[in-house]
Amino acid sequence: MITPQTLEQINIELTTRCQAACPLCARNDYGYKTRTDFPTVDMSFNNWVNIFNNAELPKLKRIFFNGSYGEPIINNNIFEILDYTFNKWPNVLLDFSTNGGARTKEWWKSFALRYKDKPLKVRFSIDGLEDTNHIYRIGVPFNKVIENAKSFIQGGGDAEWRWITFRHNQHQVEEAQKRSIEYGFTFFKENKAGNDFGFVFTNNTDGYWIMPANNTPEPPKLTEYKPDVRDSLRTYQKQELKWIMANRELECIAKINQTIYISADGKVYPCAWVGHYPDTYKYNNFKQAVGDIENNAIKFGVEEAMTWLSKVEDSWKCKSIKSGMLATCVGCTKGSFYQEC
Ligand SMILES: C[S@@+](CC[C@H](N)C(=O)[O-])C[C@H]1O[C@@H](n2cnc3c(N)ncnc32)[C@H](O)[C@@H]1O
Ligand code: SF4
Repeated sequence: MITPQTLEQINIELTTRCQAACPLCARNDYGYKTRTDFPTVDMSFNNWVNIFNNAELPKLKRIFFNGSYGEPIINNNIFEILDYTFNKWPNVLLDFSTNGGARTKEWWKSFALRYKDKPLKVRFSIDGLEDTNHIYRIGVPFNKVIENAKSFIQGGGDAEWRWITFRHNQHQVEEAQKRSIEYGFTFFKENKAGNDFGFVFTNNTDGYWIMPANNTPEPPKLTEYKPDVRDSLRTYQKQELKWIMANRELECIAKINQTIYISADGKVYPCAWVGHYPDTYKYNNFKQAVGDIENNAIKFGVEEAMTWLSKVEDSWKCKSIKSGMLATCVGCTKGSFYQEC
């Protein structure tokens, strides 16, 4: 599966806090309220050292600061963490995903200047222009992200523009691409397979739909806010049925890319999808599929906290969720939504 000797990439969560409220993000109920069933936690410098101090990870080439519930840039220990990591692994790429709206332009410039000679990259998630970014990236004004990104670029930073296409921004892709060149971004990537369909409540009784770029007719508005209970097991059972009918093969993205995911409280999983379900979205067969595990890298160090991962692969020997396959793995096929995790 994935071992310390073969591991190439780590997706890690620096915090579960965020200043934004993207409605289809795992942290939010319809963009209206933040879920209350995940821990509010920042990665401390001491915990970071506990995770990595005894690790060798000879093939490691990239650490991706992304996560499930938070905005990495708002972790206040970020400089200590990065200094330590560049000191330990000077050639490993430290790669950030951010909504870009937090902090000041001065902070972004100092961030770029501090690491301008190091392998560091920032992917700004900007899903619109002046009139559209805030429709999905609620709480992130376009002008503020662009001011921060330009300042990072002026300081010598390597910035990429990541764009999720929805119905409300599909007409702006070309213009965004043009501006990405004008502003000095090194790369523009459109993600056409984002999670692009859901309702956003603006108060208890009203809101709007986020719609995919295709022609699916818009459903009637929802009129009563109820906390979102995502019954993931049922969702996965439906996926399993489609998967069997399409005769598709499971292709574990984590195994192919030799990646692991570490949550802000230090737990190791193969990917963010498995990682955010066991604790928050409890309607899963995680425990039945893999049993009791010791996966806390703060306590055991990352190498020891990875040993349980072989149980994920063992679960695939069962050919259905009912007989013991880890439910989250069912959607993991070539070209699936999971590939971006
Ligand atoms: C929880 S966010 C953490 C990083 C950061 N806060 C951000 O938004 O870039 C994890 C990833 O999910 C992506 N994401 C958010 N909403 C999405 C959606 N509807 N479809 C696909 N990816 C999405 C983000 O762009 C980010 O790369
Ligand atoms: S910016 Fe990232 S963490 Fe924050 S709500 Fe949006 S997707 Fe979630």
